[in-house]
Amino acid sequence: MRGSRKRAMVTLVQLLRLLLMSLLSAAGEAQLSSETDSVSVLINCGSNSTVTVTGRTWTGDLSPGIGGNLTLTSASPMEEATSTNSTLGPLYGSGRIFTGVLNYTFRQLPTGNYFLRLHFCPFALEDSHNVNESTFGVLANGLRLLSGFNVAGEASISSSYLIIREYLIPINSNGLVLEFAPEKGSPFGFVNAIEMVSVVGQLFSDSIGTVGGGSGGTTSLNLNRGLETVYRLNVGGPEIQPRGESGLWRHWGVDTGYMINPDAGIEIKNTSNITYASMNDSAVAPLVLYETARTMSNTQVVERKFNMSWKFKVDPGFDYLVRLHFCELVFDQLNGRNFRIFINNKSAADNFDIYAQAGGKNRGYHHDYVDAISSKVSSLWIQLGPDTATGASGTDALLNGLEIYKLGRNGNLAYTVKTGTLSKASSSNARRARVLLWGVGMGLASVALLAVVIGFSIVIRRKVKMNESRDKKCVWKPLFLNEAVLNSRGGRRREGAVGGGKNANGSLIGSSIRVGRRFAIAEIRAATRSFDESMVIGVGGFGKVFRGEIDDGTLVAIKRANPQSEQGLNEFETEIEVLSKLRHRHLVSMIGFCEENNEMILVYEFMANGTLRSHLFGSDLLRLSWKQRLEVCIGAARGLHYLHTGADRSIIHRDVKTTNILLDENFVSKMSDFGLSRTGPALDRTHVSTAVKGSFGYLDPEYFRRQQLTEKSDVYSFGVVLFEVVCARAVINPSLPKDQINLAEWALRWQRERSLEKIVDPFLEGGFSPESMEKYGEIAEKCLADEGRNRPTMGEVLWHLEYVLHLHEMWLRANNIKDDNGNSISTLESQQAMGT
Ligand SMILES: *[C@@H]1O[C@H](CO)[C@@H](O)[C@H](O)[C@H]1NC(C)=O
Ligand SMILES: *[C@@H]1O[C@H](CO)[C@@H](O)[C@H](O)[C@H]1NC(C)=O
Ligand SMILES: *[C@@H]1O[C@H](CO)[C@@H](O)[C@H](O)[C@H]1NC(C)=O
Ligand SMILES: *[C@@H]1O[C@H](CO)[C@@H](O)[C@H](O)[C@H]1NC(C)=O
Ligand SMILES: *[C@@H]1O[C@H](CO)[C@@H](O)[C@H](O)[C@H]1NC(C)=O
Ligand SMILES: *[C@@H]1O[C@H](CO)[C@@H](O)[C@H](O)[C@H]1NC(C)=O
Ligand SMILES: *[C@@H]1O[C@H](CO)[C@@H](O)[C@H](O)[C@H]1NC(C)=O
Ligand SMILES: *[C@@H]1O[C@H](CO)[C@@H](O)[C@H](O)[C@H]1NC(C)=O
Ligand SMILES: *[C@@H]1O[C@H](CO)[C@@H](O)[C@H](O)[C@H]1NC(C)=O
Ligand SMILES: *[C@@H]1O[C@H](CO)[C@@H](O)[C@H](O)[C@H]1NC(C)=O
Repeated sequence: MRGSRKRAMVTLVQLLRLLLMSLLSAAGEAQLSSETDSVSVLINCGSNSTVTVTGRTWTGDLSPGIGGNLTLTSASPMEEATSTNSTLGPLYGSGRIFTGVLNYTFRQLPTGNYFLRLHFCPFALEDSHNVNESTFGVLANGLRLLSGFNVAGEASISSSYLIIREYLIPINSNGLVLEFAPEKGSPFGFVNAIEMVSVVGQLFSDSIGTVGGGSGGTTSLNLNRGLETVYRLNVGGPEIQPRGESGLWRHWGVDTGYMINPDAGIEIKNTSNITYASMNDSAVAPLVLYETARTMSNTQVVERKFNMSWKFKVDPGFDYLVRLHFCELVFDQLNGRNFRIFINNKSAADNFDIYAQAGGKNRGYHHDYVDAISSKVSSLWIQLGPDTATGASGTDALLNGLEIYKLGRNGNLAYTVKTGTLSKASSSNARRARVLLWGVGMGLASVALLAVVIGFSIVIRRKVKMNESRDKKCVWKPLFLNEAVLNSRGGRRREGAVGGGKNANGSLIGSSIRVGRRFAIAEIRAATRSFDESMVIGVGGFGKVFRGEIDDGTLVAIKRANPQSEQGLNEFETEIEVLSKLRHRHLVSMIGFCEENNEMILVYEFMANGTLRSHLFGSDLLRLSWKQRLEVCIGAARGLHYLHTGADRSIIHRDVKTTNILLDENFVSKMSDFGLSRTGPALDRTHVSTAVKGSFGYLDPEYFRRQQLTEKSDVYSFGVVLFEVVCARAVINPSLPKDQINLAEWALRWQRERSLEKIVDPFLEGGFSPESMEKYGEIAEKCLADEGRNRPTMGEVLWHLEYVLHLHEMWLRANNIKDDNGNSISTLESQQAMGT
């Protein structure tokens, strides 16, 4: 084994993923697409598979690839570790182990500044690898990010499974080389995921404030030094989970743990109408950050003896950029509050008036300061206090958020305690901090995965090494399975999972995108009698749907995500995305959402008559007349047609079925459940490749065969719906004879023989015009064409259905039959009498 250290050169692939965050600002407002188009490069290390976590796709560094945007080169054997027991989740269930220098070389990256995040999940590898002995360093284009880094040491401080380090680095046309190397004396190092997101908006201005020597001094900031995010906190508010706000996926922790005297401040909140002080700031922070703040408690203000003070552990000998976020939430005038800002006991600003700085109330504004920490000091202080000198009436202070970045010095961002033994965790307590940042800060998905953890094993799956041995399976186990993890799992998962996540980036329900009204959890509880089971009106992959009454008695449907379900989260996001983009009479509309208490809750208009299916069979609800059925189908077709053509990129529903067509009190039909929908192919492409999703019985066989999604897949499903509507039976009924089990096949056979009327719902008998039925059968048949290109578009389907309705109405008139539509029971009764 020794002499045979072969160079294992593995050339892999990586692709840039252009995450088009086509998220909208306010509902109905113009799309901010150009601002939010951010490049993401997401690598699932040590894996050949692609995993999706909170809606983002991480490509395995072993994925068989299309090209060479990522190359892995290693001077010594590399290994992959994979969890067979994937309780830790797809992303952290695999990792890459390196025993010598390992380079991840990214080419063809659009140039610019990127947030680079390295994800480390502390595992212990029994027998062969002990994570405690793993100490390594990382360089990014020669900038030292980590040195003497020992994950176990960090984790024991953080009590967390996951350590994520975040850096802001410039990338030029040469791309990025990430160089990982074990320290001398350490047998190996490892990494679980690499995340890069480009910064599109303007994050930093060239000029930043200096501290001490009177306020108003400025200096310039050179981002080429490299920055490391040390703290990012939502002051006076909840944790904000990473979401695609401006494509940046930042995490905001809570500030209480850093306050010297938490009693000195009180939390305030006002969610109304907050905007950025400057439109250029939309990438700086999500608006939700500005909705909460900490102000001084009254006694403090009266006595004027205290500051609100935060203290942070930092690495000595570096310069730090301190960004303070403000938003005046209370006073609508100048001199409402004037205060002083101290950084490291030095004055950073006097007589600071947010209203004046931001140009008004409810305007999110930030101010940056830079200060050096000497090599003997390992803490950074931020204090806000009354400005006793001015004698102004308002001397209360306020802070909404803060960020602390470490600035690179001479090509170095790593801090190493010089204590001799390299293999000991060297980066010291200074890291305690980060814990909170990330320990508590994993995204919903990972948290959800953690939820189940209690012992799991990971086996070495594959080794890109030439030496014989090590083919045996090695078992991994979590190093620190302790109280803290369990707690964080219980407490925080809900937290981040739902509410926090969203607002985090304001991307989805966050306030920068206001998709309707924000409900308090109390309102939701009141509306649903605390989610009483008796109020449940539906259950889906996403979670439960409750009936509820808000305000003056308006009925609503309340969809509550099951926080356990990652799928749920993805679907939730998609749903919001689609519904915030589109409004249409035949698409169910969203009234609002609730993001408190870490809940993911959507509130919709109430559809009094439930699902189309419930009016066809299997319930004792009123059956629909043929005319009503046609109108319902036309409405649904209109909704789908709009989905396919109404937005810049078509949207494919992917789950068209009679339970997703809802009827309001007037039996007007609306498409619902956009959780699976996907943006359709771009103009220059003909399809979207995707894993097959949808409902059995409605699934387009072509999509199934080729996993290529087009609008025509919806057309197929709609064809099945048309047959279901006319036959009033389940699309799959295993209790029937074999040739009848699948409605699509069975009905198609009859239709091809032009004898559809033989299998028509007995309830309709005598109540439809034969011409309309004939035409209807033809449309349904066309929708079920084997190849998508032979199927009509939804627009054509719609047009034909309208013609069918016209034929039927002429027949009704000719025969002097009254079918005045709507929920007219008499009509239905008379029909019932007539039909059966
Ligand atoms: C991915 O890895 C698994 C396990 O080693 C293997 O069975 C599978 O064939 C690999 N797939 C590809 C596409 O390499
Ligand atoms: C590499 O990156 C370039 C630029 O982003 C892109 O056009 C190209 O498709 C990528 N190649 C592969 C194989 O992903
Ligand atoms: C890794 O990259 C560095 C910097 O580009 C280079 O000096 C070194 O030779 C590379 N090592 C390997 C194993 O490719
Ligand atoms: C690794 O270190 C942690 C804390 O320092 C300790 O609890 C654990 O037992 C060690 N594990 C091994 C395998 O040495
Ligand atoms: C929140 O701000 C709005 C708009 O400025 C104001 O009308 C409302 O009174 C504020 N609410 C609280 C609780 O301060
Ligand atoms: C929201 O803010 C805008 C601009 O600051 C203002 O014109 C508008 O009146 C505000 N609306 C409410 C409800 O306060
Ligand atoms: C916003 O950015 C543009 C371009 O960088 C600049 O010209 C403009 O002055 C900025 N506006 C404000 C209010 O800072
Ligand atoms: C700031 O002052 C506090 C006492 O008020 C002291 O404990 C701390 O060390 C000082 N910090 C610095 C950076 O000088
Ligand atoms: C607030 O902190 C600064 C810096 O530590 C100190 O000089 C000042 O006296 C403090 N103010 C009060 C009211 O304690
Ligand atoms: C994961 O491991 C735990 C403990 O070893 C075991 O109880 C559980 O059944 C495993 N889960 C799976 C899916 O293998």
